[in-house]
Amino acid sequence: MKYLPLLLSWVLCAGLVASDTAIAQSVESGFRILFEQRSGNCTACHSIPDRQGKKIGIQSTFAPPLDGVGSRLLKTEIVQWITDARALKSQTLMPPFGVDLNTNMAKGRLLTDAQIADVVAALETLR
Ligand code: HEC
Repeated sequence: MKYLPLLLSWVLCAGLVASDTAIAQSVESGFRILFEQRSGNCTACHSIPDRQGKKIGIQSTFAPPLDGVGSRLLKTEIVQWITDARALKSQTLMPPFGVDLNTNMAKGRLLTDAQIADVVAALETLR
């Protein structure tokens, strides 16, 4: 039994490393979605720095830049902006990425809940 504390601290460390890895993967996936034309394509309207703080590719100035958004907005606000910004601003031109669409342009959702969670994890690192 004298090894119990050692065992417990090992389990705790392993748990922390595992959750760190999960967060890192979510952030990485989120940055991919932000920039990929086939998924989020957020740079079609926003300028967004990458993980090194660089603005890569062609980035629009149509919508507000997302620099520092992680310190400007609460996590719940970022989720709402992405899921359905109309709840915050009824006439917004920001597409509702988290609701079922039924338009000529798109059917179904633009992003899944898991993709939105990844995008939010990425945006939260922009401080
Ligand atoms: C068609 C253009 C368009 C696209 C594509 C778009 N947005 Fe937006 N977004 C806007 C506009 C415009 C605003 C500003 C609100 C307004 O004026 O309606 C905005 C606002 C925001 C805000 C709030 C910014 C602030 O500082 O308050 C966040 C966060 C955001 N968008 C994230 C995203 C993410 C993440 C994506 C990609 C998944 C995305 N947007 C794609 C147009 C767009």
